[in-house]
Amino acid sequence: MDLVLVGLPGTGKTAVGRRMARRHGAAFVDIDEIVESAAGRPIPTIFAEEGEAGFRARERAAVAGLGTADPSPRLTRVIATGGGTPLDPRNRWILYRGRSVAWLDGPPGILASRLRQSRVVRPLVAGRDALAVIEALAAARERVYAPALHVNGVAPLRDVIETLERLLADEPAAGTCLLRARTPIGSFEIGDGIAETSVSRSLAELEARRAIVVSEPKAWAVAGERLAEGLVRDGIAVDVVLLPRGEAAKSLAVIERAARRLAGLRAERGDPIVAIGGGALGDAAGFLAATWLRGVPIVHVPTTLAAQVDSSIGGKTAVDLPEGKNLVGAFHQPAAIVSDVAFLRTLPRRQLRAALGEAVKMGALGDERLLELLEAEGPAIARRAPAAFATGAVAEVVERCAWAKIEVVVADEREREADGRIALNLGHSVAHGIERAVAYRGVFHGEAVAYGLRAAVRIGASLGVTPAGRADRVETLLDSLGLGAAPLHVAVDRVVDAMTVDKKVQGGRLRWVLPTGSGVAIRSDVPPDLVRSVTDGVLAGRGRSTQ
Ligand SMILES: NC(=O)c1ccc[n+]([C@@H]2O[C@H](COP(=O)([O-])OP(=O)(O)OC[C@H]3O[C@@H](n4cnc5c(N)ncnc54)[C@H](O)[C@@H]3O)[C@@H](O)[C@H]2O)c1
Repeated sequence: MDLVLVGLPGTGKTAVGRRMARRHGAAFVDIDEIVESAAGRPIPTIFAEEGEAGFRARERAAVAGLGTADPSPRLTRVIATGGGTPLDPRNRWILYRGRSVAWLDGPPGILASRLRQSRVVRPLVAGRDALAVIEALAAARERVYAPALHVNGVAPLRDVIETLERLLADEPAAGTCLLRARTPIGSFEIGDGIAETSVSRSLAELEARRAIVVSEPKAWAVAGERLAEGLVRDGIAVDVVLLPRGEAAKSLAVIERAARRLAGLRAERGDPIVAIGGGALGDAAGFLAATWLRGVPIVHVPTTLAAQVDSSIGGKTAVDLPEGKNLVGAFHQPAAIVSDVAFLRTLPRRQLRAALGEAVKMGALGDERLLELLEAEGPAIARRAPAAFATGAVAEVVERCAWAKIEVVVADEREREADGRIALNLGHSVAHGIERAVAYRGVFHGEAVAYGLRAAVRIGASLGVTPAGRADRVETLLDSLGLGAAPLHVAVDRVVDAMTVDKKVQGGRLRWVLPTGSGVAIRSDVPPDLVRSVTDGVLAGRGRSTQ
């Protein structure tokens, strides 16, 4: 068995780790030491010469080099990590799966004074107010430490050791939690095989003894039924309401039937809805939760990649009308979102690939590491290669996209800022035009977004907003994922017309989200003839050089 110690600088990971290893005759491994010996230089020098990015890349290699977890019941290895090691989702995928993990913690004041007295030079603290640094690090890192057992690291060493020994004696948890956060838009958890434990915990926090599971036949078969059985085992009374599969769930008639079912079940204000399914199910169940008894709590359990990276986050709920999609809806933030990547293993390949269109968008908004990840491992995800799941690539894509969306939505929940949540609409002007023009049939949302991204970078390049290298990078990535490249047989005029009824039209002008070198700019002055010619080229599947 391996024991992993995580926590802020100054929490005693090295001292505790050495003592634990000695007591159990186990090996002691220090990630910082591995990095230093591989580089042949101390960490402050690595920071000075290669920056934090260089250090983090070395750290990632050191974690990958740990190999697989030791499954034996005896403690054979104690691994002390650097304070920032678990920030990297891939490091957590390796460190938190199959290993016991403890989060050593302590009051910021004590940690700061320990750091001031420490002989070890810590690059992130050097020359700065130690207390302010510790408080900032604690706030920024809590979500990545939170899946581990929380231990008071500044207690007497004997007590810390005793707590850790109790942890080792516990039954290992089913599944691996990778991230847990409380946010102003609901609590949020990502993991592999965590759904039952995590939904049970969320319901307990809501003090609910009963839940209404809302799902649809496919999601019910691959995920919902087992999860509902687990909730019943955990002592929760469960009623099940199944909606139609796919977009058919998003109609007022379906909501009326479902609400009457809730009335028949005598569902009360305190009975949360647990929505298990893709984006369509989540939108419909969310709308039901927003309106039933004027609003009941909802726990979202997204089961598609599109729902995990995007639609389950942000509180937008809606149903469609014959006149248009998402026309009737409400903002209703969930009590919790539980993203279990294990559910994604049954998704059809085309759906996985399409959802990567949204992931490329999140990368293009300015997440350099997400772009790199998609360039390196996106094609394997698009192919649905088993390795993409086993290596944690899928989980990393989910986390990076979901967390980035949470940060944007928390800053601008109701899309009121001129440059806030609207940024998430990058690629969506043309995408929505395409979806309307094909009446939402035959083209997946993420696929339409890929065409829209190509249009956005080409328009941006023409206006001098998007540097040529950035435009080329986005399109090359989309090429490698097989997105937005094939001709779409839809008339350009229909797409352009459909764009003018977009939500982003303000005072008659469409606000365009266009990539810059490292983020986006909002422009309302894009000439209509440029929009038309670029859209025409994108729909025809014409390459960039012929624009
Ligand atoms: N609320 C928002 O912010 C927001 C954002 C983007 C999209 N959306 C909405 O999301 C919807 C699209 O979501 P989607 O792409 O998830 O499609 P979807 O919900 O229609 O699901 C696609 C298909 O996948 C099946 N499925 C679900 N989970 C599965 C699993 N684990 N394995 C195998 N099959 C599974 C479903 O039965 C369905 O047939 C649209 O209605 C769109 O408007 C909402």
